Amino acid sequence: MKAAQISGYGETSVLVTSADAPKPSAEAGHVIVAVQAAAANPFDLLVISGGAQQMAQLSFPATLGGDLAGTVAEIGEGVVGFSVGQQVYGMANAIGGHGSFAEFAPVKATQLSAKPESLDYANAAAVPLVGASAYQALVTHLQLQPNQKILVHGGAGGIGSVAVQIAKQLGAYVAATAAASDVEFVKSLGADEVIDYQTQDFAEIVHDYDAVFDTVGGETATKSYAVLKPGGTIVSMTAHEDPELSKAHNVTFISQFTQMNQDMLAAVTGMIDSGALHVRVDKVFPLEAASEALEYLKTGHPHGKVVIQVSAT
Ligand SMILES: NC(=O)c1ccc[n+]([C@@H]2O[C@H](COP(=O)([O-])OP(=O)(O)OC[C@H]3O[C@@H](n4cnc5c(N)ncnc54)[C@H](OP(=O)(O)O)[C@@H]3O)[C@@H](O)[C@H]2O)c1
Repeated sequence: MKAAQISGYGETSVLVTSADAPKPSAEAGHVIVAVQAAAANPFDLLVISGGAQQMAQLSFPATLGGDLAGTVAEIGEGVVGFSVGQQVYGMANAIGGHGSFAEFAPVKATQLSAKPESLDYANAAAVPLVGASAYQALVTHLQLQPNQKILVHGGAGGIGSVAVQIAKQLGAYVAATAAASDVEFVKSLGADEVIDYQTQDFAEIVHDYDAVFDTVGGETATKSYAVLKPGGTIVSMTAHEDPELSKAHNVTFISQFTQMNQDMLAAVTGMIDSGALHVRVDKVFPLEAASEALEYLKTGHPHGKVVIQVSAT
């Protein structure tokens, strides 16, 4: 089968599409998905660079990629609720070496769900990781309530743009940070207030908030403690807690590791099919250009998700 693989760590150019990668077969608890489309995420860049080796050592050649949409090709022992040919979307193991940038990918059944009916494969593949990440942060961790105030950092990004929409669905007042060129886009998602991170200091504008959802990290995370009211909560996708700041501001800090499950995917699917949630796709690359897709994600400041079309059908 065709698969975009690496044979060592390095720049995005080490990702090469092979025509004769072995087709995986379904282990217990897994489904083999005939992949129609996959999406690239910042985590895939980390894997290519070797930065995820602490989590898992790859054996080479390794097929990359997590997000996918396609059809069920084979069902492993113990899996219930799926049928061969069913249209699905979800998340392959992006650090397992048998990822989604391939014609066939093994996926844990718990990380797979029926594809939104309103989306084609390319648009559906863009959804799973960003959808589940935003849902886990806002619903599971923050339990965001109507009229609470939340600041979303990176409101134009993959996760942030979904978070802005879910927060509005939940009835919250939403401020978001974004680049000047993205301000109108983030407003169009429903944000009540958008702060241009390049020319404005959010810490001078936002005060006494209930929650911060940080998808940026670094100094942005560090400065976010001060915008919360006592008892408030920060969820960060990238930063770790500074216990002294948590104590000084009397806030809770949660470092999120996204753990996708079928309930989250089903909730996200419901929002998409009802028209309440949109995920923007910036550019679609063929599988043969997977390396260019990852380079575009890394350096092109995409306005939306970068998708890899695996099959033309
Ligand atoms: N912990 C986990 O389980 C987990 C899971 C998924 C993702 N992540 C991580 O979460 C992060 C976000 O992922 P993503 O897919 O949403 O990435 P993304 O699509 O690249 O979005 C990041 C956004 O942040 C914006 N940005 C950069 N600097 C900013 C600043 N100082 N203030 C406000 N916005 C800023 C970027 O805009 P520009 O174009 O202007 O730079 C971009 O729109 C990544 O680091 C990713 O690795 C973690």
